[in-house]
Amino acid sequence: MAIDKLTVLLIGNGGREHALSWKLAQSPHVEHIYVVPGNGGTELLQNVTNISNISQEDFPALASFAKEKKVNFLIPGPEAPLVAGITDFFQQNVPGIRVFGPSKAAARMEGSKTFSKDFMKEYNIPTAAYENFSDFEAAKRYLDAIDHDVVIKADGLAAGKGVIIPQTKEEAHAALKDIMLTREFGDAGNSVVIEEFLEGEECSILTFSDGHVIASLPPAQDHKRIGDGDTGPNTGGMGTYAPCPDRVISKSQLEHINKTILQPTIDGMRKSGYTFVGCLFTGLMMTPNKGAKVLEYNVRFGDPETQSVLPLLSTDLAELMYHCTTATLSSVLPIQISSQSAATVVVAAGGYPGTYAKGTPITLDAVAQDTTTIFHAGTVVKDGKLLTSGGRVIAATATGADLAEAVKRAYEGVKSIHFNGMQFRSDIAAKGLK
Ligand code: AMP
Ligand code: GLY
Repeated sequence: MAIDKLTVLLIGNGGREHALSWKLAQSPHVEHIYVVPGNGGTELLQNVTNISNISQEDFPALASFAKEKKVNFLIPGPEAPLVAGITDFFQQNVPGIRVFGPSKAAARMEGSKTFSKDFMKEYNIPTAAYENFSDFEAAKRYLDAIDHDVVIKADGLAAGKGVIIPQTKEEAHAALKDIMLTREFGDAGNSVVIEEFLEGEECSILTFSDGHVIASLPPAQDHKRIGDGDTGPNTGGMGTYAPCPDRVISKSQLEHINKTILQPTIDGMRKSGYTFVGCLFTGLMMTPNKGAKVLEYNVRFGDPETQSVLPLLSTDLAELMYHCTTATLSSVLPIQISSQSAATVVVAAGGYPGTYAKGTPITLDAVAQDTTTIFHAGTVVKDGKLLTSGGRVIAATATGADLAEAVKRAYEGVKSIHFNGMQFRSDIAAKGLK
């Protein structure tokens, strides 16, 4: 099926956005990509322009820019603009625009944890047992009455920090107070979910949908802690690999997840009146006895999952996204996925996820371009020099015939990156190789 030539506006500045523009720039359907604000990596791509003088939050200014540049395809990268309603705003204000991303109503699946838990209950989607509370005293009484381990989640967006896994009852009460009374996460703590603690291996699945049919990418595993062996504080993600081995998630389990979790989620959203268009990120816990359970939904591509799964996608990404926005995804199914593996090792600034320096000069040696790609996250080009500008600075992604080869190449890629204070995990994908 013929598709329009796309002039793309991509919102965001992370490694995910570098990977998306890198993949989209390879498509014959893509004329040009504007990234607001982009990073040092997107700045260096052909047919990609960074726009640094418009704020990601200024929807009217973004819409005027889109009209001026004849943008016909919007891709919001991060959750914040989606939850704030950028999709609805563009559809109402930019004639002819197609948006790869859910409406404000559909983005509640990520924007509100109590909302997504109630959705899962309504549609019988397996998830941890839970109760929602907006009243502190009621939440406290519930904590006192139960005797299993819990996880406490602030309802709203809290930049990945609103989930607390207390080790003792005292810690659980302290967390509840921090969220609901001290309001550590502001309005995100107006209500909380208290849910059953689940054991198992985690994995993330990215699923394209046009609101009706689905196409999932290979499952990936993230590494959230800063230190080797999953130690130390949580981060935005220090590395990923894909696909997960059979030990974590087998082919038949994956089929079962598509049938009993992912398709019912898309169908349930449509039936409830908030049809999902875009990429649905489902965080799963593979429990040893009770199968896959949903930990969370995100309404966008994962970072750094995207960096590992996009190199495995053989179908043209622009075509895939376009058909999601025209309710014609079935015309490009099944999507073509390479039989290779991929791994991504994130290199962070010293001190991250605590305080860290910015403006540190970075030098990059050449890498084996057929197998390895350097995806920038917290970088900028200033006066012709590449500098750090964030905590997660840059990553090396590599593909290989198997996971061991991909990991080896990714670490060779890391050797091409140099800046003062750089830190990275040395055990990315070790769980997958076990
Ligand atoms: P979420 O943002 O809901 O995915 O939570 C962030 C992280 O907290 C997840 O990636 C898990 O590592 C952990 N987590 C969340 N919910 C649970 C649960 N019910 N049991 C165990 N760990 C959890
Ligand atoms: N890698 C987890 C996320 O994107 O939220």
